[in-house]
Parts: sequence; C-alpha cells; structure tokens
Amino acid sequence: MVSNRLPFSLRRAARRWRADPASGGLVTALLPVLRDRGGTWVGWSGAPGAVKQFAAALRAVGRDAGYTLVGVPLAEAEVRDFYQGFANEVIWPLFHDLPSLCNFEPAYWRTYCKVNRKYAKAVHARATARSFVWAHDYHLMNLAAELRLLGSRARLGFFLHIPFPPPDIFLKLPWRRPLLQALLKYDLVGFQTARDRRNFLACVQAVQLDARGTRVGEFPISIDFNAFMRRAAAPDVAAKALELHRLLPKRRLVLGIDRLDYTKGIPLRLAAFQHLLARYPEMRGRVSLMQVVVPSREDIPRYHQLRNEIEQLVGKINGAYARPGGWVPIWYEYRNLSRVELLAYYRAADIALVTPLKDGMNLVAKEYCACSIEEDCVLILSEFAGAAPQLAAGALLVNPYDVEGVATAIREAYFMPAHERTARMRRIRRLIRQQDVFHWVDSYLRAAITKDLRAFPRTQAAADEIPEMQLPL
Ligand code: G6P
Repeated sequence: MVSNRLPFSLRRAARRWRADPASGGLVTALLPVLRDRGGTWVGWSGAPGAVKQFAAALRAVGRDAGYTLVGVPLAEAEVRDFYQGFANEVIWPLFHDLPSLCNFEPAYWRTYCKVNRKYAKAVHARATARSFVWAHDYHLMNLAAELRLLGSRARLGFFLHIPFPPPDIFLKLPWRRPLLQALLKYDLVGFQTARDRRNFLACVQAVQLDARGTRVGEFPISIDFNAFMRRAAAPDVAAKALELHRLLPKRRLVLGIDRLDYTKGIPLRLAAFQHLLARYPEMRGRVSLMQVVVPSREDIPRYHQLRNEIEQLVGKINGAYARPGGWVPIWYEYRNLSRVELLAYYRAADIALVTPLKDGMNLVAKEYCACSIEEDCVLILSEFAGAAPQLAAGALLVNPYDVEGVATAIREAYFMPAHERTARMRRIRRLIRQQDVFHWVDSYLRAAITKDLRAFPRTQAAADEIPEMQLPL
C-alpha cells in the first residue's frame, strides 16, 4: 500500500513520538488483508522532518497492526511544493472543476516528480516481481512511471479517490501529457464512478496516447456499514443525540458536516438555507442548521479565506433571523468532533445536507445513512457527489448551485411523510450495506489480480473503451 500519508497520526507525548492508528474506513478495510497476507504500507508521517525521530513509534504501531510501516521523510520545501503546491493547489482544484483556483507554478510539478521518485525508491526497495503495489490518490499519479524506470516488475494498481475532470478542464494542465502517460504505466487504474472513468478515457483520447496494457474500472468506495450502525446504537451516542435535541428543542435538525474545503459548497449551502427562511417564513423556528466545519489544510491561504467567508455568512444570517432567548437559525462549529460526537450528530439530524460542488464519493452521505437506524431521516445530496448515482434511489438529489432548488428540497424533506422517508432510507441503506468497504477492497483486488475481464463487467482494457469522438486539442 502506498499513500501520501501513513494510516496513523503522529503526536508528541512528553519527549517521545506516539503514533495513533487512523480509524478511517480505508484502514479498517485493508487491515485484515494486510494482516492475513503480510504487507507493507509506505507513506509520509504527516510531520516534516526525518523519519529517524519517530522510527520507534512506527515500529510499535506496525507490530500491533501486523504489517510493516515505511515512512517517507519529506523536507519542508517538499511539503510546500509537492503536498500544498502541486497536490493541493493544482490537482485538487483542477480535478474538482475549479481551474480558476489553480496555481500552475512550474516548480510544483518538478517537486511532484521528485517526490514521486522518492516514494518509488522506498517501494522498490521492498517490492519484488511477485508483489502487488496499490497506490492511492492524486498525490501519487507518477509512482508507476517512476517504479518502471527503476526496473520494477511488480504488478501496479492505482485508485483515484477524487473525481477525474472532463477534457475541457483537464487539458488546461501544463503537464497533461506526462501526467496521463504516467497514469498509463499502471496495470489497473480505478475510479470512483463511470463519470470519472469516461473522463479519463476521453482525455487519453484527446492527447492521443496509447492505452494498451492498462485496464480501467469503477469501484465506488464505501464505509464499514455494520460498524457504523452498531456504534450509532450505543448508549453513549444515543444519550448525546438526545442532549442535542434538548439543546435545540421543538425543531427539525438539518446537518452539514464537512472538512473546510471550497469543494464542499458551504457558502452556497448557507445561501440556500437563508433563502429557505426568506422565501418560506413559516419555516422560521421550525428548522435549525447544524453546520460543523472540520479544520483542514490550514497552511493554504485559500482555506483561510473560505473560513472567513463562512463565518461572515453565518453571522449575517443569524443576525437577521435570531430572536433573544429563542431560536437561532444556524448552530456553527469549527472543530474536530470526537467519534461519539460525530455519530450523535448523525443520529440527531432529521435531514442531512450534503451539497458539494463536486466530490469523489462523499462518505459523510453514506455514514449518515448507516447511522440512521430508525430509517426516518432524509438525505439531500448533490448531483455532483460521486455517491449520487448509487444513492439516487432514495436521496433527494439537488444542484448545489441552485439555491432556490436546495431551499425547496429542505422544505420537501421537512414535509415528507414518514412512510416515504422510511421507504427511501431503507432502499439506500440496503445498498450501502451490500456494497460496503469490504466489497470495495475485494472488487478492486480481484480486478487487479485476475486477468479475466469478463468476470468484472465494469473493468475494461482501456484501449478497447476509448471513446470514438475526436476532441480538439
Ligand atoms: C481527501 C483526499 C484524501 C486526503 C483527505 C484529507 O479525501 O482524497 O487523499 O487524505 O482529503 O486531506 P489531507 O490533505 O489532510 O490529507
């Protein structure tokens, strides 16, 4: 396994480094695979500096987890130009259809290549011709190319957790050709949705590259549904959810939980909520929006601006509609939630408002449904989230740019009869349970390891699938 960060967070306890294993779905799903077969996870520790400092902490976590952890040290300049620069100021906005936010600084690309080589060396030192290397996400799109240059004969798979843009956006990238060439060095390239797979192939066609030898597939990532459902039913979570209803009584709770990111569409969501209160005065006092924003990428200026924008909007809306000693329209928190709090927020919310402008998948949507154990809640979901095609059968789909449409959807969710809420929620919960994160790992690994394409209808040889259309360069 190779990912930008290792699957744990490092923190300094007294004079030693301590490593706490990450609790995300990806780690949970891969742990049994790594434990059964033995494996290695290569990644950055998340803290600048030499790996030597926290080598003992790495070894201890690896011993407990049952696999080997290999840290890739990144110098401060590399963190700046590779992680903050190329990954988060070029690829992140571009792949989320926001090219005007890109900073196409040539030094970023050079450092991206250099750092991918660094990861490749760490992988190559441990991988044999019989190894399967699985690289994750947009930080490591050059890894296979670098590994092949080093002479690696391992089988190489890649999974892109974020969307892949259409050609008219992707082609703005100054390094479009070498980047696609590098991706085509993987044996299998996995995407979240059919949309992303099609976009990728259209880009390959547009720059006229030979895609023979690469397979592409769609593998929508998911969550450990049963674990979420079980934990959401625990007494500590139920007590906390009740407390939230006590603090915000006699109203329906609408929940938004997002990492602080401009792709999540938080200002437009706030505008939609404001529109709801302005256009439908009867809704005042009957709903509150709980908006939790989780701090993220705090060293990137664009994220500071966004935080200011959100906080000004919240202040403006609350200033216009709050009444002394009574109802306040928006309950806003900027912080990390504990596990119990997160689950309690999910359980307490009557309506979830998941309205990203574009998103690879959006696991908040799936987690919310898993925690909706009474099956009487409503999910309002952006059409542009990767989860939309899967959850369309039960969610209310909205265009996040259409503030009137989102406001109407909140009203519709509020007045939706109980039997319809249950029918919708039941449908999507069944689907998320069947296609959980274990199913995701399993389908990806089978597609990566077998050569039989027929067994996996959504995995194809890229060259056979390239669209016919000619795109102007
Ligand atoms: C997205 C990306 C992940 C990334 C996460 C948090 O979900 O797909 O690769 O780890 O955001 O962002 P960060 O920059 O803090 O790793």
